[in-house]
Amino acid sequence: MAAPGGAIMEARALGLRFGAVEALKDVSIRIEAGSVHALIGPNGAGKSSLLNCLSGFYHPWTGAVLFEGRDISATRPPERARLGIARTFQGIQTYPSMTARENILTGFHAQMKGGVFSGLFRPRSAIRQEEEFATRAEEIIDFLELEQDRHRTVGDMSYGLRKRVDLGRALALAPKILVMDEPMAGMSPEEKGDLARFILDIRDHFGIPVVLVEHDMDVVMDISDRVSVLEFGHVIAEGTPTEVRSDARVIAAYLGGAPEAEAAA
Ligand SMILES: Nc1ncnc2c1ncn2[C@@H]1O[C@H](COP(=O)(O)OP(=O)(O)O)[C@@H](O)[C@H]1O
Ligand SMILES: [Mg+2]
Repeated sequence: MAAPGGAIMEARALGLRFGAVEALKDVSIRIEAGSVHALIGPNGAGKSSLLNCLSGFYHPWTGAVLFEGRDISATRPPERARLGIARTFQGIQTYPSMTARENILTGFHAQMKGGVFSGLFRPRSAIRQEEEFATRAEEIIDFLELEQDRHRTVGDMSYGLRKRVDLGRALALAPKILVMDEPMAGMSPEEKGDLARFILDIRDHFGIPVVLVEHDMDVVMDISDRVSVLEFGHVIAEGTPTEVRSDARVIAAYLGGAPEAEAAA
């Protein structure tokens, strides 16, 4: 159930410090159900810190994180994953010596860590669950168009394909929200186009909202429903891509010198 106003996830007035560095200062965002929400801003602005607060890897010093209207500030990453908050990290998180399919299956097993099925004893229900995972893994493989690559070792794949497997691993959690840190960094334009299409499909076919950090302004403008702009740990603007692009503070702080902004104007 979403909170009033349709927000599935909310950060309220987050504050986070690392020594003298204030990574987040009074940061609030609302992620609407079924939306793609981009975070943009210069390096060091606090984007990854904010994602880490959403997924539970960082705990803000002040403020609260709400999911489906419930305060989850005190919960740790495994519990948030069980609640349906999945994330991908900057760079590659896949196991290089395993196949695409095996990597995706690790996503299912992550759900069961510390569960009742650890140890040697495997009740019938656990075996049934394995079969169910295998079926769902095939669905994810189809969805991500990895049919040809399912038995390939991930270490032999292109960067873009490995990131796609990583996305499959996150989708294996059957998430209610997907949090992605710079998923397109290091990708070719073609790989970016593919991933942009998958992100929109994840939103439209599965109804899963996606929060992502992205630097390519063309991509942000193309796929985002909402954009939050961070600078020095503050949210300096929030709105639709069009609103944000024409915001004077954003232009001054971030877009002013960017060739993408000129091209888009
Ligand atoms: N684990 C950490 N330890 C120390 N400083 C950190 C840590 N994580 C982030 N920071 C600092 O917080 C600020 C924001 O970083 P980050 O959230 O990674 O920014 P962005 O993702 O927007 O580039 C930076 O000054 C960074 O050095
Ligand atoms: Mg970052």
